[in-house]
Amino acid sequence: SDSGSGSTADGGGGDEQIVMGFAQVGAESGWRTANTKSIQDAAEEAGIELKFSDAQQKQENQIKAIRSYIQQKVDVIAFSPVVETGWDTVLKEAQDAGIPVILTDRAVDSEDTSLYVTFLGSDFVEEGKKAGDWVVEEFGTAPTNIVELQGTTGSAPAIDRKEGFEEVLSGSPNFTVIASQTGDFTRDGGKKVMEAFLQQHPDIDLVYAHNDDMGLGAIEAIEAAGKVPGQDIKIVTVDAVKDGMQALADGKINFIVECSPLLGPQLMEITQQVLAGEEVEPRIVTEETTFTQEQAIEALPTRQY
Ligand code: AHR
Repeated sequence: SDSGSGSTADGGGGDEQIVMGFAQVGAESGWRTANTKSIQDAAEEAGIELKFSDAQQKQENQIKAIRSYIQQKVDVIAFSPVVETGWDTVLKEAQDAGIPVILTDRAVDSEDTSLYVTFLGSDFVEEGKKAGDWVVEEFGTAPTNIVELQGTTGSAPAIDRKEGFEEVLSGSPNFTVIASQTGDFTRDGGKKVMEAFLQQHPDIDLVYAHNDDMGLGAIEAIEAAGKVPGQDIKIVTVDAVKDGMQALADGKINFIVECSPLLGPQLMEITQQVLAGEEVEPRIVTEETTFTQEQAIEALPTRQY
């Protein structure tokens, strides 16, 4: 009916549907899977048409996807940059085409901040600090040998989580990072790197993994080496996805710093504001907490991802 109530609720009345091009990093972790679902669900909920691509952790694929969104004249481009550097050219192309860009989850290190409207995501340095704070609390002044499983080389979360952690520990001479290597944010990567660490170092006290998946891979390697994860070797990770929280509840991981992947609803809201010509904050930080074993047991039954 053309007079009935409700006939304009889903964008009738001449409003054109917003088209968003989203260039995702990949499907490397449980976190990423939850993030993708959040974005897809929120787009549908908001009535925004989503063009979605998975770059398989390769910057060149992300750049290609962004260029194709520019060609298709989407209304807005959103993406989570796999690494921090090397975006200026393609971002300039989007700007010249008059298409606003929103960064989600990961930052770029471009000096020209006019190349994107805002950056929505976690404070990764803060996450690293929270992991460090727990380590200081847990080990006190005892000599502690730490191995670090880094995220994807050159990515904002790998750079920042390392930095925040080191900043906290640098005040205490009893902590030594005896080995640090990338596991690319994957379970398999974490397992392989941990296997090598265990062979080279008989005296590891703690694993600091930049995400749950690498921590879960490390658990497999530790068990295969005949040691007990969470006891013989303690583990602190970042993310708090279901599998990580289950391992924490089971005592195999000792502490998790939360990184929320549920960025979809806020991203759609920001998109609508930007396209309506409203001002948005240049940096929007995600709210996050931390989990001990008891807190994980309590949170698990209602955890969404
Ligand atoms: O950028 C966020 C990080 O990327 C998550 O912590 C990690 O699990 C993912 O792969």
